[in-house]
Amino acid sequence: MRAERFRVATRNGGMNNRGNVVLGVTGSIAAHRAVDLCSLLVKSGCQVRVVLTADAQRFVTPVPFRTLSRNPVVTDLYDAAEGWQPTHIQWADEADLLLVAPATAHTLARLAHGLADDALTCVALALPPDKPVLVAPAMNGKMWFHPATQANVDLLRRRGVEFLGPDSGLLACGYEGIGRLWPIEQIAARVLERLGTGPAGAGSCGLPAG
Ligand SMILES: Cc1cc2nc3c(=O)[nH]c(=O)nc-3n(C[C@H](O)[C@H](O)[C@H](O)COP(=O)(O)O)c2cc1C
Repeated sequence: MRAERFRVATRNGGMNNRGNVVLGVTGSIAAHRAVDLCSLLVKSGCQVRVVLTADAQRFVTPVPFRTLSRNPVVTDLYDAAEGWQPTHIQWADEADLLLVAPATAHTLARLAHGLADDALTCVALALPPDKPVLVAPAMNGKMWFHPATQANVDLLRRRGVEFLGPDSGLLACGYEGIGRLWPIEQIAARVLERLGTGPAGAGSCGLPAG
């Protein structure tokens, strides 16, 4: 019943619903990569609903996410995407998994401390406790290794949140080291595994080729 409220992708393959994913995108320089991540998840048969934080919208717009996910995009807690119910409650109720990618240091702190000051953090708090929460951090290495961030990561891990990355390499801020967003193909593959639907289906990692 809950899956029915997600729009079913019927064109370009009409794949079965492998799970309802809420994709939270935060204000990282890596936010543009969430567009391709959204597309990968949709091509893999997931129903994807995207929530952008206010700062994410400094880096990306809702348009590609709306088009690729074939669903409304929430950019504000007071958006009424569908129906009468507060959107963050409806989307949380209907989600099979919450993925935050990229996740900033700021949003990790908000998630760790239970803040509920925007649509993404409200979805996270309203999510049924048995639903997986995956986060893929992306930030400068000093931000990642700061004791405040590490304490937030510990707290979230102890609460069952799964961290994907961060990866190492050349960072957009000019530094080299840890802090890069995990490869989006690996993020998508892990999402499918956690949904219990990968790696069956298409190419390696359960992802569609191309
Ligand atoms: C150009 C630029 C790039 C940034 N990239 C990152 C980043 O990759 N990771 C991060 O944690 N913060 C980054 N920030 C800082 C965040 O945008 C800032 O902490 C913001 O409050 C995050 O808000 P949100 O988590 O609600 O989206 C960046 C800021 C700027 C101006």
